[in-house]
Amino acid sequence: MSDTSLDPDLAVVILAAGQGTRMKSSLPKVLHRIGGRPLVGHVLDTARDLAPAHVLVVVRHERDRVAEAVLGVSPEVVVVDQDEVPGTGRAVEVALDRLPDFTGDVLVLSADVPLLDDVALGDLLAVHRASGAAATLLSARLSDPTGYGRVIRDSAGGVDRIVEHKDATDAERAVDEINAGVYAFRAEPLRDRLGRISTANAQAEKYLTDVVGMLRSDELGVAAQLVTDPSLIVGVNDRVQLAEAGRLLNARTIRRWQLAGVTVQDPATTWIDVTAALSPDVTLLPNTHILRATTVAAGATIGPDTTLNDCEVGEGATVTRSDATLAVIGAAATVGPFSYLRPGTQLGAGGKIGTFVETKNSVIGDGSKVPHLSYVGDAEIGRGVNLGAGAITANYDDLAKHRTVIGDEVHAGSHNVFVAPVKIGEGAKTGAGAVIRKDVPAGALALSVAPQRNVEGWVEKNRPGTGAAAAAARVRSSQEADDGSQEEHG
Ligand code: UD1
Ligand code: CA
Repeated sequence: MSDTSLDPDLAVVILAAGQGTRMKSSLPKVLHRIGGRPLVGHVLDTARDLAPAHVLVVVRHERDRVAEAVLGVSPEVVVVDQDEVPGTGRAVEVALDRLPDFTGDVLVLSADVPLLDDVALGDLLAVHRASGAAATLLSARLSDPTGYGRVIRDSAGGVDRIVEHKDATDAERAVDEINAGVYAFRAEPLRDRLGRISTANAQAEKYLTDVVGMLRSDELGVAAQLVTDPSLIVGVNDRVQLAEAGRLLNARTIRRWQLAGVTVQDPATTWIDVTAALSPDVTLLPNTHILRATTVAAGATIGPDTTLNDCEVGEGATVTRSDATLAVIGAAATVGPFSYLRPGTQLGAGGKIGTFVETKNSVIGDGSKVPHLSYVGDAEIGRGVNLGAGAITANYDDLAKHRTVIGDEVHAGSHNVFVAPVKIGEGAKTGAGAVIRKDVPAGALALSVAPQRNVEGWVEKNRPGTGAAAAAARVRSSQEADDGSQEEHG
């Protein structure tokens, strides 16, 4: 099978076999997430933008979990298992074994360098191809180069070799130009040198970086392309760097949406996943999280203090200090403050879910309102409905969930309990405190509370000696005195 839009002379190898010891995690490092996507997912995404004919991902540590995550988003990728020989050089070697006849360019990426973009990679490849070098690597100058491999240059300023931090002398550690771990190689010289690198180094690994020095001693061209924006090449090795990479990615995402017409009042406390989509004139207020596949239509205002997971927010809607997952919020609807929308909530246009209201698996029709202190679960609510404060759908009888169906224009009194399964017909009304156990016909008034009866004098008789009895006695004697003086004058 061949796809003519792909570059037949380009293969991308993504290194994802390392253990990621410094993360101290049961989750493989490359599956840790930033911007709502695993590290390896970001790298795959960037690789795909270059339209390579081959994409190979090298796995070993927790290989099944990593392979599943990779193939889940990119089924066309070839997953290659690294054997017990450790090191980045060995990883590339086993990948190239899968492409024995390939003679084009091999772009090597690390799954733990997630912020590289397609522009920087495209530049690297173009420079590499134009120069005819055997290898071209990305480098950067860092104020703190600790941990990275250093680019050692010769007296003429050319790349001589790369030395790993752990193997470097003090003088070499003072070099601030680092190897980003991203390279373009010509396949043939790379394949040849990989077969010859040793494990004689501080980590007893086959270092891919050793290929650079070998190519140079064979007088083949090696070039380094310095990136001007070092944030592109941050490597994630521990959780400090994970947070830093997440922050840089978020800043980039926010900037992209700001330039597309979104107001972000406080970028430092706003988090937007790379998978979310916003429209012009959306306003995001401080401490707002727009996560996963959430979409927000034009003119909506979200926040402050709001988290949306996989939600769809309609034009001009307002969501304030609320938490929602898998919910649809209609145009011009209002949510919050302090609402909790669980999966399957669908609020119609112009509707309202108000303060201290929890909803789940419920359709709330256009213009319908659940304004205060309520739980609405497994309900189907028509248009123009108003539920009074404290409405509860009792949807669970210890055995199964049941539905509450409320017709258009129903106005329910305060503190109602709808004991599902139950239906309230169109236009019906319910009294305050009603417990609705039976269906209510359209247009009826449903009352379930007995008429109020006052038993005069009950407190003084039954609670003598209490403050309540004393208060009641004071009112009684002043009333008796009034009555007496009226008799005298009458
Ligand atoms: C590597 C480079 C270093 C560079 C840095 C940039 C080497 C020897 N060193 O160091 O010069 O400055 O990246 O971020 O290449 N991996 C495998 N198989 C293995 C070992 C690692 O696939 O046997 C993968 C890892 O999963 C990771 C990547 O290769 O995605 C880099 O490995 P890591 O151990 O993090 O290398 P660094 O020490 O960061
Ligand atoms: Ca690394």
